[in-house]
Amino acid sequence: MARIEIEGGVPLNGSVAVSGAKNAVLPILMASLLTDAPCRLKNVPHLKDVTTTIELLAQMGAEVGLADQFTIELDTAGVAHQEAPYDLVKTMRASVLVLGPLLGRFGKARVSLPGGCAIGARPVDQHLRGLAALGADVYVDAGYIVAEADRLHGANIVLDTATVTGTENIMMAAVTASGVTRIENAAQEPEVVDLADCLNSMGAQIEGAGSNTIVVHGGKPLSGYDFTVLPDRIEAGTFLVGAAMTGGHITTRRSNPRTLDAVLQKLEQAGAEINTGEDWIELDMHGCRPQAVDVTTAPYPGFPTDMQAQFTALNAIAEGTGVVRETVFENRFMHVLELQRLGADIRLEGNAVVIRGQPKLTGAPLMATDLRASAGLVLAGLVAEGTTVIDRVYHIDRGYENIEEKLGQLGARIRRYAARAA
Ligand code: EPZ
Repeated sequence: MARIEIEGGVPLNGSVAVSGAKNAVLPILMASLLTDAPCRLKNVPHLKDVTTTIELLAQMGAEVGLADQFTIELDTAGVAHQEAPYDLVKTMRASVLVLGPLLGRFGKARVSLPGGCAIGARPVDQHLRGLAALGADVYVDAGYIVAEADRLHGANIVLDTATVTGTENIMMAAVTASGVTRIENAAQEPEVVDLADCLNSMGAQIEGAGSNTIVVHGGKPLSGYDFTVLPDRIEAGTFLVGAAMTGGHITTRRSNPRTLDAVLQKLEQAGAEINTGEDWIELDMHGCRPQAVDVTTAPYPGFPTDMQAQFTALNAIAEGTGVVRETVFENRFMHVLELQRLGADIRLEGNAVVIRGQPKLTGAPLMATDLRASAGLVLAGLVAEGTTVIDRVYHIDRGYENIEEKLGQLGARIRRYAARAA
């Protein structure tokens, strides 16, 4: 099992290119199931979750290949198997995103219930309620979601919670339904907008993506797509927090500042000087230690839950006391116990943590538990004095492309090595 070793204490400096957004690539790859025409997706990051998605689509009968290092070509004309098996879904919950496209194109789908994960129960009740509203017969059979429909019809759907993948699943089914579908309380994340833009490039007619009301004029014939994924705002935000924690000065290239307003405002509150351009973000701490900031996570455009662990780590080293409140997931503080091993002063109070910033942290062996918690631990290792070793880095590889190479480009003393079998 691979580990990452970090010698802390080096301010991050320089510039780094940001990869394509994982949480846009996954639904857009699934959207290829909606058409029997060839599709091409560019700016695709090399991530475990992307590989898993390719395996899943190939298992269904899709032809998937790499046109070049960052471009995937897909042809789902040959898909004859409308099932997402447990052994794949249990490794990647986002597999549930095949439900809408399979139902829309073939009138049937059988997808393993994703089950919970480290950060919470992660129910999919809103996905199922939305598909049923479109006319599908949806039921659970032996741990699998089964959805069947002769013909989907438009509907007015009000989501109980602004679920990202729930909005995406319903949108992908609704583009094949006869009539108009309104999705109220829809998720507004940039990744939802990217999926809607891609579906519209295929011939769909979707309005309002990015707002809390999406209108889908269904039943349009769908061609393939030739689409470029937007930059990963969470990867960009993670590197910027690393620079803020280490008193550094970096620029993230191929990143979109307009998708990071809430995060950039918090970084300015922490004392960073931020400059932005069309596709770059510059952060300069002028060598200073960050100030503690209070953060409450919320659906977009609020502060992203996927940046919560990174800001918890920032507060651990900041001047002052910061309160981080997690309102989206019920168990997203696994990084707290590990940060305490580095000497962080963090008190858990319900769905919030109170963090008294310390002048220094001390390196120690740590265990990664989930994708974004792991990112928070890596950032803490960058400032901790001495050596920090993080085990189970496969969690990190699900969402960050070559994280040690990119941080190394910014001056971090970081390396990956294969740990001897225990
Ligand atoms: C997406 O997950 C992202 N994953 C997550 O990123 C991200 O943390 C999350 O949105 C919130 O922004 C992908 O896009 C692949 P939700 P998703 O449905 O769609 C509740 C990462 O690190 N809910 O918006 O699964 C749910 O329990 C990952 O890249 C229901 O109650 O999240 C949670 O409390 C982690 N019923 C809240 O809504 C439902 O049917 C938000 O979940 C669906 C969700």
